[in-house]
Order: sequence, then C-alpha cells, then structure tokens
Amino acid sequence: MTPDVDIPQEIEIRGDRFVPFIEVQRIQERTTEIAERINRDMDGETPIFICVLNGAFMFFADLVRQITIDCEVDFLKLSSYGEKKISSGNVQLVKDLNCEVEGRNIVIVEDIVDTGFSIDFMKKWIGKKNPASLKIVTLLHKPSSTKISHTLDYVGFEIPTKFVVGYGLDYAQKARNLPAIYILDGNHDTEQ
Ligand code: IMP
Ligand code: MG
Repeated sequence: MTPDVDIPQEIEIRGDRFVPFIEVQRIQERTTEIAERINRDMDGETPIFICVLNGAFMFFADLVRQITIDCEVDFLKLSSYGEKKISSGNVQLVKDLNCEVEGRNIVIVEDIVDTGFSIDFMKKWIGKKNPASLKIVTLLHKPSSTKISHTLDYVGFEIPTKFVVGYGLDYAQKARNLPAIYILDGNHDTEQ
C-alpha cells in the first residue's frame, strides 16, 4: 500500500480554519469503486461523461481515467455560490455543452450535491435535449442540506452540512489544488 500524501494539517482561508477530513487514499479507493461499478453497469454503452466545472475537475479526471468502456467527455460550467459559503439558489449556466445529447447516455459528474439546486437545473437543461438516459455521479453529498431531491446514482461519501474544500472544491476560488478534502473546523454549521 502506498503511504498517504503528506498534506498540511490545517489551512486558513479568509480567517476560517479548515482541517483534513477525507484523505487522499480514501478518495482514490472510493473513486476506483465507483469507476468499476460504472464500467459494469454501462457495459455495451458509449456514455458521455459531463464534468461540472469548476469543482468537479479533479474528481472527473481521476474517475474517467479508470473508465474502461468506450466513452466521451464534455464540460459544463455553472455558477451559484459567488464568494459565499451557502448556495444563492440562483443557478446560472456559464458554459453550455458542446456535444450532441439527443439519444445519448449522459453521466453528470459533480463534486458535491448540497441543496440540489444545481442538479435540478442540469436535469432540466440536459433533459430538454432528449438524452437516452441521464445518470448522476457525485463525490460528496450533504443529505441534510437537501432542498430539491433527485436520485443520485453513484455517491462517494455522505457528509454533514459543513463547508468543505480541496480536491477541486473551493472557498472564494481558493484551495482547489489541495489533494485531500478539508472541513471547516469547529461546531458551527455552514454559515454565510
Ligand atoms: P447545490 O446546488 O446547493 O447542490 O450545490 C452544488 C454546488 O455548490 C457544488 O457543485 C459545489 O460547486 C458548490 N458547493 C456546495 N457545497 C460546497 C462545499 O461545502 N464546498 C465547496 N463548494 C460547495
Ligand atoms: Mg460543483
């Protein structure tokens, strides 16, 4: 077994302190399990994996490199958080897909499902383009934050309603580069 990557034991962003929460090796193991399940479940199909920018870029790269079935990739960019730690609920499309969706098996790859507003937006947006099927993969899910519920086909980790950063996820655009996932330190829940 490879030793875990040496990571900082705390980071500070805008006066908030974050501590390690999900280590690199656990992320990798779970990502491999999800990729193997997708390879089995979608055997014989040629899905298009959609990376939801920016947050999902790291998980997406690690996931699709373990996909062994024939597939394509494309990218979509949403915005809803601004520089705050709670969703504005006002989801906007910043970059649309470039692929033809009609009749295709689409797999949305998200970093985290929090309120569910973003997933709701994408299911409607992509649904209108008549895909053959539409599945959702998310690395993280905060079940207690749900405002709009949708079936999540593959979930890496269920986590409490606290802000997390690292491994693609940001706070005010910072910390996306960290290889592990960090959580806001202390007892307070997500705050504005
Ligand atoms: P939702 O629309 O509230 O479900 O939020 C979805 C998006 O908000 C995710 O794709 C993330 O980009 C962002 N987000 C939600 N929770 C967090 C968090 O704890 N840290 C960083 N980004 C988050
Ligand atoms: Mg996201």
